[in-house]
Amino acid sequence: MISRTTIDRVFETARIEEVVGDYVVLKKRGGNLLGLCPFHNEKTPSFTVTPTKGIYKCFGCGAAGNAVGFLMAHDQLTYPEAIKQLALRYQIEIEEDQRTQNDPAYQAEKSQRDRLWDLMAFAQQYYTRLLWDHPSGMAIGLSYFHERGLSDTTIHRFGLGYSLEQSAALVEMATQSGFTTEELELAGLALTSETRGPYDRFRGRVLFPIYHVNGKTIGFGGRTLKTDRKEAKYINSPETPLYRKSESLFGLHQARKAMTAAGFVYLVEGYMDVISLSQAGVENVVASSGTALTREQAALIHRFATEVTLIYDGDQAGIKAALRGIDILLENDLRVRVIALPEHEDPDTLARRLQGEALKEFLNDNAQDFMAFQQNLLLKEAGRDPLRISSALQVVAASIACVGDPILRAMYIRHLAEDAGIPDASVQEAVVQQFKLKAKRSPNTTTSTVPTPSPEGLAQTLAGTKDETHTVPDLQPLSDIPQETEILRLLLLVGHQPMSQTSADESVSIVEYMGETLLSLTWDSPSCRVLLELCLARWQMEGCLPGNHELMNHADQGIATMATRWYTENPQISPNWDQMHDISVPPPHDNLNKEIQTTFDRLLLKKILRHSRLKQVELQTLQQSPEGYDHPAISQILRDIQELKEAERRITACTGIVITH
Ligand code: CTP
Ligand code: MN
Repeated sequence: MISRTTIDRVFETARIEEVVGDYVVLKKRGGNLLGLCPFHNEKTPSFTVTPTKGIYKCFGCGAAGNAVGFLMAHDQLTYPEAIKQLALRYQIEIEEDQRTQNDPAYQAEKSQRDRLWDLMAFAQQYYTRLLWDHPSGMAIGLSYFHERGLSDTTIHRFGLGYSLEQSAALVEMATQSGFTTEELELAGLALTSETRGPYDRFRGRVLFPIYHVNGKTIGFGGRTLKTDRKEAKYINSPETPLYRKSESLFGLHQARKAMTAAGFVYLVEGYMDVISLSQAGVENVVASSGTALTREQAALIHRFATEVTLIYDGDQAGIKAALRGIDILLENDLRVRVIALPEHEDPDTLARRLQGEALKEFLNDNAQDFMAFQQNLLLKEAGRDPLRISSALQVVAASIACVGDPILRAMYIRHLAEDAGIPDASVQEAVVQQFKLKAKRSPNTTTSTVPTPSPEGLAQTLAGTKDETHTVPDLQPLSDIPQETEILRLLLLVGHQPMSQTSADESVSIVEYMGETLLSLTWDSPSCRVLLELCLARWQMEGCLPGNHELMNHADQGIATMATRWYTENPQISPNWDQMHDISVPPPHDNLNKEIQTTFDRLLLKKILRHSRLKQVELQTLQQSPEGYDHPAISQILRDIQELKEAERRITACTGIVITH
């Protein structure tokens, strides 16, 4: 355990702006610093760092804390790990008391997730050692990497490894070191067959570790070296509590610094492409590992860069398939450029041909703006066939509809119209249509009944007409889901505690105190509502709250996902933290009660404001009806609005919270 003096010194020395500044680009705004929140996906900055107070706070998602808390949340570190990292950064000597990693009692006390991190680190070390020290590792694995032109430095930098042919080499080593076969399975490293028992997932393959942004191993990709067609070329880690494929990018940890420096990143397809380019001097490169890009990955990229340059192999079929995934990047406010390599060339072969400045120059010279690239490709393909031209136009229009910047959008519309030889207005119409289609389909956005400025505004400016529908779904919804999720997380965490601030009645728990009010709200997230009902019912029947395990296995996928996220993101402050016996973590800080109160108030306030806005719209509609101001329902609405205003004023007055959007 780290000594109190060390912890105190870390807190005195760490500067929040420097710690956050390693991950988020911050701009000065008065006494504060402002940036894009790394904890949720946003386009306009609401993430504030206050150096004088040593804290950060996001006004979009409510994430907040000090330097240690930031590292814990951002890099998924435990409390002692975060302290150690800061101590390292500020060159503070770490005093520890007697108990060490090898102490069995200490190991037993660690939470399961910590053990998975340890197991992955163990496996990584084991596989690396085999590559460098084991006769067949050297003869087969290391020589393969050398043949592919990788230097020892590169092999080390990417932590490459080798797994033996034997069926349970890792299982044996790991169980001897105190890990269980259940843990090996949970970490995706072993499988169990009825006849053979537990055996290794990776056998006789070279291994590419997949790192979390924080540099810890979360999974592996294993390439076979056999030419046998029956054998899968790659075997990858499955989804585990640590590895979520849709939320990680191969090479990101190594590319991070270069990405922030360059402001952009090259996106390639394969593990070898990343490694070769990086070795050749282009270090800002990541891979999505052979799958379509997800929203989470786009958001992840956005934390370190504002532009993505996709590098495609020379074959046309591959390119067309890949074009479909790109709208996700545009939607996340990333500028996209494309490099189509000559036939028979991929980033790996290119990087062996050209290095350093010559390579950078080649890439830069061959990068084209994505929209122009896609437009040329599809229009060329369509030839003079009007139907095919039209469907090509629709595809490009759909991409243009993803672009947030209105000026850029206007320029794209002009270009497309020019190239296709049709009037601007027709392209505009197509974009508006695509925009509406997209909004209807978009699974991740909720439908708001309030007409919001963004989509309608866009539709109107583009089409120059007033849109008739009043239920245009939001692109960036004013959804309360982040706050709803947060309130449930906190409720599960401290809901059982007495509502001590109200000291009038010490015996009332937080969950009882807030339950009724929360139930009376309109919830955007059905899963949150179900979870709330579950909490209240459980509290009434059994005097406790549902446990983490139960929630992670809940039939409602929304609940299961939330619970898993809480659990994997931050074990210390996830539900039932105290049952995880992680004694190195201090009990939930006293501020938690305050935090839940604030989140509660914020949620209420947001609901009230939304409700007000709805009422205002209703009011306007009635005023425009034939009866106008004489409409019988108007007085009631005015009263409602008055009441809501009053409630808003009350909350704002006693909390100081102001919500502007
Ligand atoms: N991939 C996979 N499973 C496969 C094939 C491919 O997961 N059966 C993923 C891997 O992430 C791989 C990427 O898709 O890196 C690109 O595939 P490919 O071009 O076939 O592999 P390379 O990494 O280029 O491998 P190599 O150059 O060694 O052939
Ligand atoms: Mn390749």
